[in-house]
Amino acid sequence: MRRTFFITTAIDYTNGAPHIGHAYEKVLADVIARYHRLKGDDVFFLTGVDQHGQKVQQSAEKQGVAPQEFVDGITAEFLALWKRLGIQYDGWAATTDERHKRCVRGILQRLKDEGQLYRDSRAGYYSVRQEQFLTDKERGMNGEFGPEWGEVVLLEEENYFFRLAEHKGWLLKLIDQRDDFITPAFRRNELRNAVEKLAGDLCVSRPKARLSWGIEFPFDPEFVTYVWFDALVNYISFAGYDPATRTQPAEFTARWPALHVIGKDILIPAHGIYWPIMLHTLGFADEEIPPLLVHGWWNIAGTKMSKSTGNSIDPHVLADNYGEDALRYYLVSDIATGKDADFSEERLVQRYNSDLANGLGNLLNRTLTMGWKYREGRLAGNLAVGSREDRFAPPARAEAIQACQEAYSAAAVHTALEHALSIGIKCNQYIDSVKPWVLARNPELAEELDAVLSYLAGCLRTIAILISPVMPIAAHGILDQLNWRAGGYDGALRFVVTQDELEGGFADGHQLGKPSPLFPKIDVDLVAAPGVL
Ligand code: MSP
Repeated sequence: MRRTFFITTAIDYTNGAPHIGHAYEKVLADVIARYHRLKGDDVFFLTGVDQHGQKVQQSAEKQGVAPQEFVDGITAEFLALWKRLGIQYDGWAATTDERHKRCVRGILQRLKDEGQLYRDSRAGYYSVRQEQFLTDKERGMNGEFGPEWGEVVLLEEENYFFRLAEHKGWLLKLIDQRDDFITPAFRRNELRNAVEKLAGDLCVSRPKARLSWGIEFPFDPEFVTYVWFDALVNYISFAGYDPATRTQPAEFTARWPALHVIGKDILIPAHGIYWPIMLHTLGFADEEIPPLLVHGWWNIAGTKMSKSTGNSIDPHVLADNYGEDALRYYLVSDIATGKDADFSEERLVQRYNSDLANGLGNLLNRTLTMGWKYREGRLAGNLAVGSREDRFAPPARAEAIQACQEAYSAAAVHTALEHALSIGIKCNQYIDSVKPWVLARNPELAEELDAVLSYLAGCLRTIAILISPVMPIAAHGILDQLNWRAGGYDGALRFVVTQDELEGGFADGHQLGKPSPLFPKIDVDLVAAPGVL
């Protein structure tokens, strides 16, 4: 059976509205998914919402509505935003879904039967905000629990525990042996150090007496499942995993393992410790432990964006003001995958104006205008320019194409875009130096002019294909103006291209479309007030 490229993102908490940070993660994953579709891979892109837990229960209570009603409202906001931003996911993981609940219960039952869960009583400090017991490790320099833990209370209760600590040695070995386990590599040490310190087991239940909004334990109705244990399972429950058997259905094995795209804040302990150990105890082989792509954060003036401090940006407002392509472009081009960056609406406009309006848009317009002015839009010949004189030699683009593809494969989207757009920058310089308007005046140089125009049109197709994972609408706009449609085009801005189409030129006699501005320049003075929620 043909393997699928399976990609997931963190599922978003439904205790607040989506902001630019959430949008970044989905766009990043969508870009990677689209890149794979472009290459002809079968793609399964899973994302969704994390709907259980104490915070949700509390927020719903505050609003005086039932938790389900509360999460339905916020889920609708996430769904609307993913539609607005053109996020093309194939599976939707909402943790209140019966399919998911069945899977979580099945896993709990299996771990219990296999001796990986036990019941015990524990007394200690508990963070209501983070929904976990705290140990002395979590105390700050002054011996107190920091503000990140919110309200901390003393609790003593019986719960179910998952045997984490006994798998510490296994996890350390996995981290050392699997080079591809964590991208970027600098996060690997961070995780290794955290695993070294791992001492206790994981409390995976919450007594119903204080939290009812969760998945009930299959063998003890007095308890619901800890929200992280529940949420992590989404990656397999919505991919066809059957907890009752060790031999998995073909639906699941064709997909697994997934590339998990997550933010740096949820690597330790959830995705880097709990999740691999959960999978290991379920019988997943070492090579089936999923790789983690850990991205950084978009901040505002160096600080975390949050609705409570009033500095979170509403992605809808930005998409309405600048278009979803411009927003997608900014979100993945002005940050290096893995690092943090500061969000700035001014930078968004600057990058749009310089890279897209003045750069690529200008190249498209110049090329098509000249094509019509000198040749009525018809390309002739695919003659290698420079056959007569070196001064007509066009800039090479094979290296940029290859570098761009390598960067996409490594999820370095910012670098991929740089390489793609570098082709356009060189084309603009080439036009300035070769001066087609001068060639047009000299009938002896007619072949050179044809070759220059063909070369430029071919480069525009290359660039459009290479930027299409990030800016699908603009890419199709360029391809429409070039009057070219790729194979497998399904009307949803999805297509598959061959390496020849990516690197080559148009056929002799190809008729170009008419130019029309694709990236109208944004007037900097008109930049609206940032879309603060
Ligand atoms: N529900 C958990 C994830 C469970 S996955 C099994 C969660 N939700 S979250 O809504 O808080 O965050 C969802 C994702 O958005 C996380 O990967 C997080 O890192 C990411 N981001 C939240 N704010 C962000 C920024 N400001 N910038 C970039 N990504 C950010 O964690």
